[in-house]
Amino acid sequence: MSRHFRAGERILLFDSKGRRYLVTLAGGGEFHTHSGPVDHDVLIGAPEGTTVRSSRGARYVAVRPTLAEVVLKMPRGAQVIYPKDLGPILIMADVFPGARVFESGLGSGALSMTLLRAGAVVTGYELREDFAARAQANVAGFLGPEALERYQVTVRDAYEGIDEQDFDRMVLDLPEPWRLVKAAESALRPGGILVSYLPTIGQVSTLRDTLARSGFGMAETVEILQRGWHVEGQSVRPDHRMVAHTGFLTSARLLAPAGSEGDPGDPGDPGDPGETGDPVEALDAIDGVEPARPAEQG
Ligand SMILES: C[S@@+](CC[C@H](N)C(=O)[O-])C[C@H]1O[C@@H](n2cnc3c(N)ncnc32)[C@H](O)[C@@H]1O
Repeated sequence: MSRHFRAGERILLFDSKGRRYLVTLAGGGEFHTHSGPVDHDVLIGAPEGTTVRSSRGARYVAVRPTLAEVVLKMPRGAQVIYPKDLGPILIMADVFPGARVFESGLGSGALSMTLLRAGAVVTGYELREDFAARAQANVAGFLGPEALERYQVTVRDAYEGIDEQDFDRMVLDLPEPWRLVKAAESALRPGGILVSYLPTIGQVSTLRDTLARSGFGMAETVEILQRGWHVEGQSVRPDHRMVAHTGFLTSARLLAPAGSEGDPGDPGDPGDPGETGDPVEALDAIDGVEPARPAEQG
């Protein structure tokens, strides 16, 4: 990537109040502000992080936008998954370069961009043609048209089944993901991970009930809370406002069928070594560390 801004590039301008503006640079172009225009020509050829002034003296810092900044600013059809959840989804699904990932629905493509940025090869099913087109345009806009070679999009109802097989991962942002659990058992390889993003806990319950009666195991549900802090001189405190709720993330792993070679038995069997009922204690047991219990702590 060039150190200097080029014409045609999308950049982000920050004003003195921290407001952000996404601007596509064009020779001879102008960015209009309350305090007069900023000439694009001043920015083209300038290094990232440069500060420019509008015609009436307002200062703007120019940088290339991060994935999170683009997601919050890009054209949307459907509601996007927020950056605070996108990062954890990558970790929960353990996405790696070259991973074969099934994704549905695509919406505005925020999750697709995140998966593709991490190096995955994505097969996406989206019900609505306009959203499929929007997701592809957003992917190409941020990652370049070459990213579309790793992004196979089909307009169809995911609940009707999945044609492809041998996926490493499956990431769902659908209202009724439990309707795909049966298909996921065939489409994922054993050991493959399913992650589902759901806004309400009733949906999570239905999904977890369905997973409990399926070939998946090791199910977990988490909620990610992110609280910003105001840091200014002696005024150091949590921000007054935060995004209180977005959604819940549920993950599960497809187990090998019972009786298959090397089957270690039901991990929930009483007496299984390492089964403590306490995930922290279980992790400590793996590390060979004696866990401290609250009652024993000074
Ligand atoms: C909330 S949006 C997804 C947003 C996306 N994860 C993002 O980060 O931009 C949900 C999407 O699921 C799609 N959808 C709903 N039901 C579907 C189905 N049965 N098959 C495929 N897509 C479906 C909707 O059209 C919508 O685009």
